[in-house]
Amino acid sequence: MEVKTSLLDNMIGVGDMVLLEPLTEDSFLENLKKRFDHNEIYTYIGSVVISLNPYRSLPIYTPDKVEEYRNRNFYELSPHIYALADEAYRSLRDQDKDQCILITGESGAGKTEASKLVMSYVAAVCGKGQEVNKVKEQLLQSNPVLEAFGNAKTVRNDNSSRFGKYMDIEFDFKGDPLGGVISNYLLEKSRVVKQPRGERNFHIFYQLLSGASDDTLKKLKLERDFSKYNYLSLDSATVSGLDDAANFRTVRNAMQIVGFMEDEMQSVLELVAAVLKLGNIEFKPESRCNGMDESRIKDKNDLKEMCELLGTEQSVLERAFSYRTVEAKMEKVSTTLNVAQAYYARDALAKNLYSRLFSWLVTRINGSIKAQAKTRHKVMGVLDIYGFEIFEDNSFEQFIINYCNEKLQQIFIELTLREEQEEYIREGIEWTNIEYFNNAVICDLIENNQNGILAMLDEECLRPGTVTDETFLDKLNTICADHQHFESRLSKNSKFLNDHSLPHNCFRIQHYAGKVLYRVEGFVDKNNDLLYRDLSQAMYKANHSLIKQLFPEGNPVKVNLKRPPTAGFQFKASVGTLMSNLQTKNPNYIRCIKPNDKKASHIFNESLVCHQARYLGLMENVRVRRAGYAFRQAYEPCLERYKMLCKNTWPHWKGPARQGVEVLMTNLQVPAEEYSYGRSKIFIRNPRTLFFLEEKRKQCLEDLATLIQKIYRGWKCRSHFLLLKKSQIVVASWYRRYAQQKKYQKIKHSTTVVQSYTRGWQARKLLRELKYQKKCEEAVTTIAAFWHGTQARRELRRLKEEARRKHAVAVIWAYWQGLKVRREYRKFFRANAGKKIYNFTIQRIMQKYFLGLKSKLPSMSPIDKTWPARPYSFLDGVHAELRRIFHLWRCKKYRSQFTEEKKAVYEEKLEASELFKDKKALYPSSVRQPFKGDYLEISKNPKYQKLSSAVDEKILLADVVNKINRANGKGSPRLFLLTKKNVVLADQKTGQLKANVPLTDLASVSTSTQTDGFFALKLKEGSASAIKGDFLLSSDHLIEMITKLHRISSMAADREKLNIDILDEFLVQFKQDKVCVKFIQGSPKNGNSVSCKRKNNRLLEVSVPASS
Ligand SMILES: Nc1ncnc2c1ncn2[C@@H]1O[C@H](COP(=O)(O)OP(=O)(O)O)[C@@H](O)[C@H]1O
Ligand SMILES: [Mg+2]
Repeated sequence: MEVKTSLLDNMIGVGDMVLLEPLTEDSFLENLKKRFDHNEIYTYIGSVVISLNPYRSLPIYTPDKVEEYRNRNFYELSPHIYALADEAYRSLRDQDKDQCILITGESGAGKTEASKLVMSYVAAVCGKGQEVNKVKEQLLQSNPVLEAFGNAKTVRNDNSSRFGKYMDIEFDFKGDPLGGVISNYLLEKSRVVKQPRGERNFHIFYQLLSGASDDTLKKLKLERDFSKYNYLSLDSATVSGLDDAANFRTVRNAMQIVGFMEDEMQSVLELVAAVLKLGNIEFKPESRCNGMDESRIKDKNDLKEMCELLGTEQSVLERAFSYRTVEAKMEKVSTTLNVAQAYYARDALAKNLYSRLFSWLVTRINGSIKAQAKTRHKVMGVLDIYGFEIFEDNSFEQFIINYCNEKLQQIFIELTLREEQEEYIREGIEWTNIEYFNNAVICDLIENNQNGILAMLDEECLRPGTVTDETFLDKLNTICADHQHFESRLSKNSKFLNDHSLPHNCFRIQHYAGKVLYRVEGFVDKNNDLLYRDLSQAMYKANHSLIKQLFPEGNPVKVNLKRPPTAGFQFKASVGTLMSNLQTKNPNYIRCIKPNDKKASHIFNESLVCHQARYLGLMENVRVRRAGYAFRQAYEPCLERYKMLCKNTWPHWKGPARQGVEVLMTNLQVPAEEYSYGRSKIFIRNPRTLFFLEEKRKQCLEDLATLIQKIYRGWKCRSHFLLLKKSQIVVASWYRRYAQQKKYQKIKHSTTVVQSYTRGWQARKLLRELKYQKKCEEAVTTIAAFWHGTQARRELRRLKEEARRKHAVAVIWAYWQGLKVRREYRKFFRANAGKKIYNFTIQRIMQKYFLGLKSKLPSMSPIDKTWPARPYSFLDGVHAELRRIFHLWRCKKYRSQFTEEKKAVYEEKLEASELFKDKKALYPSSVRQPFKGDYLEISKNPKYQKLSSAVDEKILLADVVNKINRANGKGSPRLFLLTKKNVVLADQKTGQLKANVPLTDLASVSTSTQTDGFFALKLKEGSASAIKGDFLLSSDHLIEMITKLHRISSMAADREKLNIDILDEFLVQFKQDKVCVKFIQGSPKNGNSVSCKRKNNRLLEVSVPASS
């Protein structure tokens, strides 16, 4: 909920002077002092802000403060300049009302600061954006430039504005700044040539000399030494807390931001330098022959340098300082100037140069900051003008300034009253006439066109003849003598005729803010503000663009014989424009007050403040404001603020706010004449009533506060208690849980221990029992075993005993039976029993033998020689017979597996065995050799094709043999072929048939008993084949050959059996001779081979190695 605050909250003194009760000057000052002492430098009079200069920085201008006051109602927060700025800005933006902010006050009261605060506040709260920020920056940066050229240190203010300034800030419909226009009023140009004691010339001179670089100074022909320049007072050239050098840089920077070109800046500085140089030009008198005094320039160096700076011709300027040309009716009269006139001319030039430069600067700045868009603007004017001035010595300037303030006061009264009146009408309240002092009459005294003081001064200045300040005063005395606000020593109805405080050359005006005594000296001159035409023409001739612009009247083409308007006239005109400008706007007032003359903080000089309050007409202000109703407030905030004072409106009022307020007022029994109901506001006539309401509210608030406090405390205690209670429960529950857990754990632990002990005990018991049981069982088993053993052994013994007995019985019985039988059958037994028993026994033995043999038979292989041993010797024959039979049987079995071929082979082998076994020593080695028959594969060999075709029968044997030559016993190889009918011998190499012997011609075959392969084929005597003689051959397959020969011959039925003779000596019939072939055992020296040697004609000896 937004908290509604009010100005009336936490008020120190009263924030609004309208509420001051009682309203006297003392209470007014006391209120200001009280607030000032509490750092409340701002106080309201209605919507007017009084500002006291704190002379120190207060923390009330922070961005936070800006936010605090932004968009808040004027009376919502404690008085502040921001509240006024915010009010003005919002009414400009939201209600489309042009505003002006009028800041008045004495020099050093804080006007310029106030204007800057207003501008910075508006800059902070208005729109943002690149363009807008640039405009803001330019507007704000115009200040340092103007301050450098227009401000100076005075005794009252180290940074006193020596010109009046009015600045229009222009906004668009959104409230964004577009630009601005600055108007300046009456620069105090006399300061350029002369400064009062303890004061300085304008800041820029000092800034330039301290801050510019050596280079710049050289260009400007200046030296960094204030004492070198006559126009610069030396007594306070440096001001503490003012850094001229730094400020110079700030100014240059500001000029750049505002948009000054580099050459423009240079020109400006040249002019400033020129003014300084001008001050150094000095004159000396020179007597002329006509007795007149003429002036001459003392040292022309400065003049020369100045002319160089401005680009003027030295002679022209020199002449302008010596002569004055007066033109009248086509006539030109030149008069010489005396020294005093020359100095006057010099100073006039310096003042004009400077003031015109200042005006040019303002115009130039305006050129930069003026709004670009042509659309309608909303305008906020800020007027920072010199305040009312009352010095000991008041001259033309003060007169002018005070006139301006008089006008401002008037417009203030007018506008305030008008606003007041408008509000009454708006609210439908009856308008009662208000008594107040209207200063229009004083304004009239000064500005009246016929007999106003300014009009008379102008008249005096234009009048031909001798015109002096005294003549002007005389004129005033005659014309204004009757005016009630004008006093002079000579005025007829002066009440102070005898008052010597009023000197002769003075007049006094009773301004709205007090009486001011003016010294007439210098009025005429200052009003005339004369610059000799020769000088302005000399300036115009200068070869310097800026100078030319500043002195347009020096243009000879535009010679104007009319006098230029007087200063007074000009000022009146500009004040007139300013006033009419201000009248179109909604005014906002800031009244600045200086609390002391020492520029010191915390000092409140009552008399000084009282003086200012008086001439600012602050009491007047309060009175005007309070004339009808002192206080007004809209119904809603009013009801909101005071609703607690009545039961009907507290805490909420349902109906319209106005009715609520009415109920409230009747309930509080406020007298009816004390207030009025407007359309949207209640008007309270007397501050007393308001304070009565406030007091009541305060009490009520205290009660309410107590109530709230009570309820809050109760609530707090209760919630605290509840919290404690809740916490206690939680803590307790947690503790209980914890305790129970602990207890449970303890019990559990104990249980476990007890349990374990019990279990242990039980287990041990059980173990003991089991062990015992086991022991018992073991014992039982052992006992049983022993018992059974005993039993068994006993039984065994018994059985053995029984068996023995039985056996014994049986034996005995058998013996007995046998004895009996033998006794009985003795007579029969001898004849048959022995035989029978024998047979039986034999039978049993045989049976046992056969059964045993059956199980011990050797393998079925015919060559297996094993045979079980003979058990009884009487079975010797049977055993051998059985062996033979078994062998035969297994041979038969073996044979029965044979094929026909194999059978033939074995038959052959068998036959070989029959023929040679134990007869020839060669035989055993042939047993293992299979009879292959055809060793040569004649039919397949193409070499023997012819041979095989010659032998048409099937070849049963084909081998190579050696045919032994009878002559030497050496062998030659021959093919030996055997068929069913023939034996064929052929050449081994060629296969050529050598002999074909039919088997029928073969008588016998002889061979030795030894291991050799020699054999002889003996032919039948008388057969066809026998012609060639027998064949003595040797072969590796002798056994096979002879066996086959024998077989074939034995199978043929028609032939007789071939004889095989196995002898170691036989005869062989070689053709005619018979040769004996003798086989001998060869000695070892003959080696292992068989050798055959012819011994003689009839003997061939074959030595055969002994078979090993
Ligand atoms: N609101 C303020 N807070 C702090 N210092 C202030 C304030 N107003 C004025 N001053 C001080 O007073 C001096 C004079 O103020 P200034 O505005 O120049 O006076 P004026 O323009 O009325 O002659 C300033 O230089 C500043 O030091
Ligand atoms: Mg100022």
